[in-house]
Amino acid sequence: MRLRNVKNAKEILNNSDYYINSTKYPKGIWNNLFKNDNPIMLEIGMGKGDFLIGMAKKHPEYNFIGVEKYESVLAKAIEKLDALELDNVKVIQIDAKELDTALDHEINSIYLNFSDPWPKTRHHKRRLTHETFLQVYDKIFKSDARIVMKTDNDSLFEDSLVNLSTYGYILDEVILDLWACNKENIRTEYETKFGSKGFKIKYLSAHKKIDEHEKI
Ligand SMILES: C[S@@+](CC[C@H](N)C(=O)[O-])C[C@H]1O[C@@H](n2cnc3c(N)ncnc32)[C@H](O)[C@@H]1O
Repeated sequence: MRLRNVKNAKEILNNSDYYINSTKYPKGIWNNLFKNDNPIMLEIGMGKGDFLIGMAKKHPEYNFIGVEKYESVLAKAIEKLDALELDNVKVIQIDAKELDTALDHEINSIYLNFSDPWPKTRHHKRRLTHETFLQVYDKIFKSDARIVMKTDNDSLFEDSLVNLSTYGYILDEVILDLWACNKENIRTEYETKFGSKGFKIKYLSAHKKIDEHEKI
């Protein structure tokens, strides 16, 4: 998702209490920022924020950090957040490949919703479940890693199942048609768009232990 020209995007970010500037990342002590010891959940590629906001409202017992690569997209999400009073949400503008510069072994779960599918084989290494990203996630997860993913894209989904299994994740739940199940679900912007067009929404949840040597 790339939006053209959101006026004053930088200003919108910098004026919001939800936005944490890269010079102020409380790396390793995000719980201090939230002023509690609740688990911290991360959504990577949060887009305009519907899922993040829905989850934060529904789960005040968790903290949420939203991650987005593009300033203009994040500005849209922040406009929605600024109209609300949520004390369990923060957002950062960063590329997922650099997440270990912002966080240090403090995340409980990562949500990947409708991540860019990168259809060309030569671009598969850019997929957020490629091994190079899984290695970065190892550095930000606490001792138990959990990845929850939704997508309408078959190739990305199949590739992610293989990548996660190969990397040592145990697949706990795999659903091929999420909308046909009764599973509790907060829809994202892309999910609403593609699900309404008849695309089947795929879902997976996977976990693994972070080894002690990975914690160095
Ligand atoms: C297809 S959109 C999905 C947005 C939202 N999750 C949804 O389901 O409606 C993918 C989003 O991920 C962001 N993104 C892609 N690659 C990223 C990366 N490496 N790091 C952070 N965000 C990324 C894009 O900017 C875009 O907003």
